[in-house]
Amino acid sequence: MAILSDALHSSRMRTAPAAKLEVFCPALLVEIEDRLARFVRDTAYPQNLRDAVAHALLGGGKRLRPLLALRCCEAVGASPKDAIEAAVSVEMVHAFSLVHDDLPALDNDLLRRGRPTLHVAFGEAMAILAGDALLALAMHAACSAHRDPARIAHEVTNATSAMIVGQVYDTLGGFSESTTPHDRLRIIHNHKTGALIRCACRVGAICGGARSESFAAIDRWGDLIGLMFQAVDDLLDVTQTAEHIGKAVRKDSDAGKLTYPSVLGLDETRQEIARLRASALAALEPLGANADHLLSITEYLSARTR
Ligand code: IPE
Ligand code: IPE
Ligand code: MG
Ligand code: MG
Ligand code: MG
Repeated sequence: MAILSDALHSSRMRTAPAAKLEVFCPALLVEIEDRLARFVRDTAYPQNLRDAVAHALLGGGKRLRPLLALRCCEAVGASPKDAIEAAVSVEMVHAFSLVHDDLPALDNDLLRRGRPTLHVAFGEAMAILAGDALLALAMHAACSAHRDPARIAHEVTNATSAMIVGQVYDTLGGFSESTTPHDRLRIIHNHKTGALIRCACRVGAICGGARSESFAAIDRWGDLIGLMFQAVDDLLDVTQTAEHIGKAVRKDSDAGKLTYPSVLGLDETRQEIARLRASALAALEPLGANADHLLSITEYLSARTR
């Protein structure tokens, strides 16, 4: 039995990483796009605000976070669709975070998802307000969850707070002098990016009615892939072109940001990503074959180029 499970595990490990997330989730991506569009359509916003929100929310993006929610719901034995409201709630917070992250006062970026950033397309005042609106819409979606909406709303608000704390550390600092650069890096990345990714996994598991062992496995996996995600993002900032990733590159070093390559160098960054990948794969073991999609997502995330 152990030999069979080892063989299965290693054959899964040999699976070539998908170049794009949509390779293994096309139907779920359609579901996510539809539900996001429906939430925007059903608002009572004036047309200018609705257009701005649509630019930020419906304008492409990998949809990683909602996919994580749906696949984690499925991995604990439920239908992925049971997590759709929670899934889109996390994506709305993510879209809000990107709109504000791109503002002149923060990263001052002009390109996002291969298109003008929201403040470039609609002006800075509308970008601030559309970001605010996305956050409110996210809370509305969380409160619409079918299972335990109050818990889902708590999860999403806690992760949003952590993301904002991470953005403050990333942009304005605030660490004590004794915090080492490596610790600062982990704290920033776990907060600004890891928290929402982990939240997507947790809310998916909650919507699926996860029992404690499965929930703990998914929580740990979400923590590891969240950190890995930002380490890869840092790497892409120095190894890719803007045309390929749809956003500006070499921004982090120009702004003097603490990133994996700036603290550890390129080789050690790649080794750290490999270590996080291995730990993330190991974290899925308690879920057995139910975690097949999560294994594929781990492989994709460790090797993605955009
Ligand atoms: C970009 O996230 C911001 C980070 C947290 C690094 P994604 O790479 O998931 O952005 P989209 O949604 O696919 O555009
Ligand atoms: C973004 O980190 C994190 C959040 C939006 C919370 P980055 O500033 O590195 O993301 P990109 O590179 O602009 O997508
Ligand atoms: Mg930033
Ligand atoms: Mg940025
Ligand atoms: Mg970045």
